[in-house]
Amino acid sequence: MNHLIDIESISKEDILNILHLAKEFKENKKKSDVENKTVALMFCENSTRTRCSFEIAAQKLCMNIINFDTEHSSLSKGESLKDTIENLYFLGVKAFVIRHSFSGIINNAIKQIKYPVKFINAGDGTHAHPTQALLDFYTMIEKIKTVENKKVVIIGDVMHSRVAKSNIALLSKFNADIHICSPSYMEFETAKAFNITTHQNLEKALEGANVVMALRVQNERHEKEGYPDSSEYKRLYEIDSEKLKKYAQNDVILMHPGPVNRNIELSSELIDSTLGKTILEQAQNGVYIRMAILNTLLKEGGRNAS
Ligand code: CP
Repeated sequence: MNHLIDIESISKEDILNILHLAKEFKENKKKSDVENKTVALMFCENSTRTRCSFEIAAQKLCMNIINFDTEHSSLSKGESLKDTIENLYFLGVKAFVIRHSFSGIINNAIKQIKYPVKFINAGDGTHAHPTQALLDFYTMIEKIKTVENKKVVIIGDVMHSRVAKSNIALLSKFNADIHICSPSYMEFETAKAFNITTHQNLEKALEGANVVMALRVQNERHEKEGYPDSSEYKRLYEIDSEKLKKYAQNDVILMHPGPVNRNIELSSELIDSTLGKTILEQAQNGVYIRMAILNTLLKEGGRNAS
C-alpha cells in the first residue's frame, strides 16, 4: 500500500515528514522530485479549496494535470470507476486524487485495481478527509508549536463530518485534549472509542479553548426530518467574537475547513475579523501540504506515506 486514504493508516513519523516537507515548499527551499508525472483530479462531488489547491500544488511541482470532468466522462455512460482508472493509468496517469460522496470508495478501488497507481483521498462521504486534517494540523503547529495537552474544541456536525473524523484521528496521535460539541442529532457515535470530552453546551465547550474548529452544517447529508433547523442551530451553536472573547483563551485560534455557512456556524463579523484570517491561512497551507503529499507518494525510490 502506498496511498493516502486516511489518517489511521499513516504513522506519526509520516505525518511529521509531510509537515516538514510542506514547510520546505512554503519557504521555497525544496524543488519538485515529480516533474512531468501525471496526476488526475477526479472530483465526483463539488469542491473549491481541495480541488484548486491540488491543482496549484501540482502546477508548482511541474506535473501534468488531468482535470477529469466526471459529468462529461464515460462514467456518465455507466463505465465503472475501476475501468476508468485502469484506462487512465495506461494513458500515463500515475496518481488519482479522488473526492466522492460514497464512504470507502477508494478502499474498494484499491482492492480491484492491479496496476501500481497511487490514490489520494480528497474526501469520501462521511469517512475521511486526510489532507484537510494534515493542513489543519500544519496551521495549528505554525501558530502554537504543539497540540499536546492543548484544548482543541470541534463544534457542530461531527456525525457527517469527514474533516472532524480525520482531525480527531490525527490530534489523538499527538495527545491533544480533544473536545467535541454538538446537538444530539449531529453527535459522533463512536466518540467513546477515543479519549474525547463531549459537550452539548457551547459556552461550556469553549471555556479555556486554545483552538476552536467549527464545522459546516452538512444539510445535504441529513436524513432525519426537520433537522437541521438552521435558526435553532444558530441560536445554540453560532460562534461570535463576544463568545470567543468571554470563554476561550485570549490567543485562541479560530478554524473552519470551509465552506462556511455565514451567520449559522460563525458570525459574519467574526469571519471578517483578524481571528477569521486563519480560515484563509488554512486554505493557503493546503497548497503546501498537497505538494508534500504528491511529492512523497510519487517520488522515484522515495518512502511512501503509508
Ligand atoms: N474544506 C474543503 O474540503 O473544502 P472544499 O469542499 O471546498 O474542497
